[in-house]
Amino acid sequence: MSEKILVKNIGEFVTYNEKCRDMIVAENIEMIIAKNGIIEEIGTDLYSPELKIIDAENKLITPGFVDAHTHPVFYQTRENEFEMRVMGKTYHEIAAAGGGIKASARKLREGNPELLKNRVKKYLDRFICFGTTTIEAKSGYGLSVESELLSLRILKELEEKHDLDIYRTFLGAHEFPEKYQNDHEAYIDLIVGEMLPKIAREGLSDYCDVFCEEGVFSLEETRRVLEPAKSLGLGIRIHADEFKPIGGVQLAAKLEAHSADHLIAITDEGIHALKQSGVVPVVLPATMFFLGSEKYAPARKMWDAGLPVAIATDFNPGSSMTQSMPFVITTACLKMGLTPLEALQAATFNAAHSLRITRSVGSLEEGKWADFIIWDFEHYQGIPYFLAPQPVYKVYKKGKKVWEFNM
Ligand code: NIG
Ligand code: FE
Repeated sequence: MSEKILVKNIGEFVTYNEKCRDMIVAENIEMIIAKNGIIEEIGTDLYSPELKIIDAENKLITPGFVDAHTHPVFYQTRENEFEMRVMGKTYHEIAAAGGGIKASARKLREGNPELLKNRVKKYLDRFICFGTTTIEAKSGYGLSVESELLSLRILKELEEKHDLDIYRTFLGAHEFPEKYQNDHEAYIDLIVGEMLPKIAREGLSDYCDVFCEEGVFSLEETRRVLEPAKSLGLGIRIHADEFKPIGGVQLAAKLEAHSADHLIAITDEGIHALKQSGVVPVVLPATMFFLGSEKYAPARKMWDAGLPVAIATDFNPGSSMTQSMPFVITTACLKMGLTPLEALQAATFNAAHSLRITRSVGSLEEGKWADFIIWDFEHYQGIPYFLAPQPVYKVYKKGKKVWEFNM
């Protein structure tokens, strides 16, 4: 960006504010963005003739979304499984019959790396149309040394030229590949002995995650992956208590993980363990909606217990084929009982906190990136209300317009 910018005629200005430790809904606000894309000043009557103007047309402005849980590196979609689920098969039955994560891993390993990169690029572009300006992105559909490294390298390479900020997570422990189905030890040795050291040496990942679940990675297997990951300096995230509470949440607390994600089956002891630690609960309402479940994570209860609940899409080809944070906000309100303002905080500041990046994103405050959405309506309640499509009007990343709705 070459010019300083003044954003004026903002209708409603809605953001988390670190001083108030709460969301604020303000009017008559203007915002100056420095040449480097950082918010320089927020206040009233900031007008100065030398500034380039962004006219917000009296519409709502919010921070860009931080999607703190996504799986965008996959080779093929799995709409056949959607049909099977609608016809009565469960997610577990489909996985046991060779579908699910294993099917995705087969496709990715056999696939063409250039084509994979083009597909991932297409998905990265699409996040921005929904107002998302920062994502966490996981590997986990490779499940071999070569394909896991390829997945992370693709994310790294694409991020260099992309407007989206991408934080990478190594999820080699997403499932046991077919070859190691009866030899879990050998696959864990491969993760710990080969994948993790290579990833750390190449700086390919910020975090390490494990799918800790009955029938996937046991508690002990999860620990065996995450302890060495932590010693290598990676932040820890865990897919925990999605279907059965086998202790993943308590392990997250013990390892001082950044987040524990899913949590549909979390117990009162689990909530207590999160309270005692700094682990952020990341809940994924679109996943349960997409799986046709009536059971959702107890986000309301966790919020009332004082936990900084975050929400995310869980974008993946099996259990959540959506990149829409506005849709996630709608489901968080309707299915989990969060208010629109709480859900917005969960999708911005709390999500950034789960990644430990609130110093630069997650709220519109002086000194942070000017990552924001101008909405095609006036009031924040419109975000969950205008369902499918939710009218994102313009999206700015670091003060630069990166998307605009065109009829
Ligand atoms: O977060 N729960 C584990 N992993 C993904 C699902 C992956 C898939 O079905 O491909 C999730 O929901
Ligand atoms: Fe996930």
